[in-house]
Amino acid sequence: MSSSSEALAAQTAQMQVSDKQPVHYDEAHGNDESGDGSAAKPYKTAVAAMLKHGTDVALLQKKSGEDAYEPISGSGLKKAKKLYDVAIKKQKKAEEQAALDKERQASEQKKLEESKKVVIEPPSDAPEAKRIKIRQAEESRDVRVKVSGWVHRLRVQKDLIFLVLRDGTGYLQCVLQGKLTQTYDALTLTLESTVELYGVIKALPEGKKAPGNHELVVDYWKCIGKAPGGEDAFSNRISENADPSILADNRHLVLRGETASAVLKVRAAALEAFRAEFKSLGLTEVNTPCLVQTQVEGGSTLFSLDYYGEKAYLTQSSQLYLETCLPALGDVFCVQESFRAEKSHTRRHLSEFTHIEAELAFLNFDELMTHIEQLICGTVDRLLANQAVRELIEQLNPGFTAPKRPFMRMNYKDAIQYLNDHNILTDEGKPHQVGDDIAEAAERKMTDQLNVPILLHSFPREIKSFYMQRVVGDEQFTESVDVLMPGVGEIVGGSMRMNNREDLLEAYKHEGIDPSPYYWYTDQRLYGTCEHGGYGLGFERLLAWLTNRWTVREASLYPRWTGRCTP
Ligand code: 4AD
Repeated sequence: MSSSSEALAAQTAQMQVSDKQPVHYDEAHGNDESGDGSAAKPYKTAVAAMLKHGTDVALLQKKSGEDAYEPISGSGLKKAKKLYDVAIKKQKKAEEQAALDKERQASEQKKLEESKKVVIEPPSDAPEAKRIKIRQAEESRDVRVKVSGWVHRLRVQKDLIFLVLRDGTGYLQCVLQGKLTQTYDALTLTLESTVELYGVIKALPEGKKAPGNHELVVDYWKCIGKAPGGEDAFSNRISENADPSILADNRHLVLRGETASAVLKVRAAALEAFRAEFKSLGLTEVNTPCLVQTQVEGGSTLFSLDYYGEKAYLTQSSQLYLETCLPALGDVFCVQESFRAEKSHTRRHLSEFTHIEAELAFLNFDELMTHIEQLICGTVDRLLANQAVRELIEQLNPGFTAPKRPFMRMNYKDAIQYLNDHNILTDEGKPHQVGDDIAEAAERKMTDQLNVPILLHSFPREIKSFYMQRVVGDEQFTESVDVLMPGVGEIVGGSMRMNNREDLLEAYKHEGIDPSPYYWYTDQRLYGTCEHGGYGLGFERLLAWLTNRWTVREASLYPRWTGRCTP
């Protein structure tokens, strides 16, 4: 700009300043919220100044890095005006919207008030309804039924409410129409509310889809317990991709989801199948104590407690008790919670897990391994033979097939060779050596590469428990076996037990265990010893494999792990 035109601009600005109210804005230090347009409290932008004071003002601008206010330039004013027009338009629109919202709210409020007067009654000519659970829906079509449950899904249309009802035994699509949709409860219905529905279940025509291919056409209904809406709505408490700790805190609500409840249904069926398989194999179920004064799997993972002034522990394994049952009941099994004060935060460790353990007398190591294989395969076969359970497994683990028999049997020493041949290193990044405890990561890698169940056997004495029978002729190794499953790793740990009293006494000594609290266990070798063996199966680990869960935590109702003992 030439010096004469600069002078002219300044003159014009001077005129503007004198004619109109001066309003200041400072690009660097102004504030659109707290400014008032004075030189001491300027705005940050010209558009904010205009929105507060109108356009008929003298805008004085302080650019970044400058000390004095100057009148806004012509182009700056044009730009600010444009932004101002847009902002005013927006403001107007928002005001119109707010008015509309207010109107709508008022009309909704009116509708809600009116809905309180709508009273519904069962149809006068309706026959008595038969109370059913959703699992009985198919056999109860075309007669009037009463079904109660939780609103699992909800879709409200004009004069039509579609909801999916859940009662734990299944899901049922239900449709409410006409006056049934106009009551106060209908207008304020929320997910997870409990309702009682009356009506007739009708098969759906071809092409329409719903659980069970039918829907309940409701003729009368009641709301039993309204779940909150708004901020406290169920869908605000948990969502699928919420933080794991939020999901853990809300496990009681997560359980209601389709996936969590399916896992628990498979869990119940698997427990039943295990018991049936044990029965067919001739084992008797016993109930073992939880409170004990002996360790089975090493002192480092014991939870201890004060027991009437004496030290006691939560059981790590029922094995020792099962061994004492053999002379009384023959082969036995138990389903008992075991507790491990695990320091490991892995996805397959729990502090409390359901332990399925068995003990068998008068059999050799080879027979023990065959029995374990039979137990797993027989149980899986039973589950897959049940259509409802097969569908749940397919839902959770698409493409699952029963494992092929016989399982691969692999000696510990061959496993070490395999790991080294395939460059699978220890946690410290070194090649494996005979004598090493194969760490979880390496074990998982090998199992996933082989991608079949493996009976990994004959581990070194030093890395296994004191009670394990030695391999004859190779005394540094034991008749021990782990079952490894792809995706999870070890799900079973078992062994033949020392049956010679002197060997056992020497083993206590080697381990630094005081033999006196074990008198009852040692007595088994005194009063008619026998060749025997057994195993423990981590039920949550088997379920994680069967239902393809990332962690065993998903297979437990209320999982406990390091630092988590709630809800
Ligand atoms: O290998 P473990 O420690 O063996 C025993 O307790 C034997 N006394 C069992 C017996 O012979 N009766 O544990 C057996 C199985 C493991 O293979 C694993 O599946 C499971 O129990 N398990 C755990 N599952 C979840 N969380 C933990 N912290 C577990 N510890 C063991």
